[in-house]
Amino acid sequence: MAGPVAKTRELIDRFGRRVDYIRLSVTDRCDFRCVYCMTEEMQFVPRHQVLTLEELYAVARAFTELGVRRIRLTGGEPLVRSNVMHLIERLGKLPGLDELLLTTNGNQLVKYAGPLRAAGVNRINISLDSLDAGRFRRISRVGRLERVLAGIAAAVNAGFDRLRLNSVIMRGYNEDEVLPLVEYALARDIDIAFIEEMPLGEASDHAREDTTCSNAWVREQIESRYPLLDSAVKTAGPSRYAQVIGRKSRIGFISPVTHNFCADCNRVRVTVEGRLLLCLGNEHSMDLRAILRDSGKSHEDLKDVMVAAMELKPERHYFYEKDHAQPVRLMNMTGG
Ligand code: 5AD
Ligand code: SF4
Repeated sequence: MAGPVAKTRELIDRFGRRVDYIRLSVTDRCDFRCVYCMTEEMQFVPRHQVLTLEELYAVARAFTELGVRRIRLTGGEPLVRSNVMHLIERLGKLPGLDELLLTTNGNQLVKYAGPLRAAGVNRINISLDSLDAGRFRRISRVGRLERVLAGIAAAVNAGFDRLRLNSVIMRGYNEDEVLPLVEYALARDIDIAFIEEMPLGEASDHAREDTTCSNAWVREQIESRYPLLDSAVKTAGPSRYAQVIGRKSRIGFISPVTHNFCADCNRVRVTVEGRLLLCLGNEHSMDLRAILRDSGKSHEDLKDVMVAAMELKPERHYFYEKDHAQPVRLMNMTGG
C-alpha cells in the first residue's frame, strides 16, 4: 500500500494564475534619485527592519521549493546593498531556479558586470532614460551618464544571455529621445523596453498626468523610422515585444497604464521589509518577516504562509481609475 501522499503545495491564486516569478527587493536605497521613483529627500527603512541577506536567501529558497523558476533582484538599487554578491552567488546555485535576473541603474556595473555573470546571473535590465548628460542628471537628479554608459559596455562584454535597457519616456523630460535610445540599443544588439510611467506614490517634480506618454505614441515615433514586426515571444514579464526587421534587438513595450496586463500576471514581489506584495498596484500583502523572525516558526511554516497569501492576490490594478484608491507606495519601496 502506498503511504499517504504529501499534498503538493503550489502557488496558484483565486483566478487560476500560477506564480512562478518573484521580484525580490534587496534594498530600498539607491545611489540615484530618479524623478519618477523617488522624492529628493527620502526616508529609508531603518536597517533592523530590512531583511538580512540570510533572510532573503531563505525567502528565495522557499519560493523555489514552491515552484518559482525565476527570481529578479530589484531595489532601490540592488548593487548598493553591502555584500550583495555573497547573496547572489548563493542564489546562483539554488536548485530549481531557471533564471536569476537583476534590474539595475548601471552605475556600478563597471565593477560588478563580470562578477554577476560569474555568479550565474542570466540577464540584466539596465535603466537608461537619456543619452544627454544634462538630462540624464536632471532625471536621475545625481547620476553621471558617462559612468552608466561605461557600465552598459561592461555588461555587453560580460556576455549575459540578454541585456535590456529600460526607458521611461516622459513629456517635458526626454520625449524626443525615443529614436536615439532605440538606435543605441540596435547598435549593440541589446533589447530596449519602454515603460509607461506608473502612478506609484506622488512624484515631487511633476504631475504624472502631464508627463506620462503612452506606449502607442512611443511606438509611432519608432515606426516613423523603423517598421516593427510584433513578436510572438512571451517572456516572463509583462513586456510585449516587437522586432526591427533584420536586427537582433527586441523592442519591448510595458504598458501598465494603457494596457492592463493583469490577466496573465505570474509574479509577486517581496519588499525590502519582507512584505510579500501580491500586486504592484494594490496594498494586499503578507508579512514574511514576522514568520522569519519568529523562533517558533519553521521553514515549512514560511512556505505555508506563501501559499496562503495567494488567496489575497487581487484580480488587477486600477491605475488612474477614479473610484479606486491609488497606490501611495513609491517604486523604491515596491521593488522595481
Ligand atoms: N513608473 C514606471 N517605471 C518606473 N520605474 C521606477 N519608477 C517607475 C514609475 N513610477 C522604472 C525604473 C526601472 C524599472 C524597474 O522601473 O526606471 O527601470
Ligand atoms: Fe534608483 Fe532605480 Fe529608483 Fe532611479 S528608478 S531612483 S535608479 S531605484
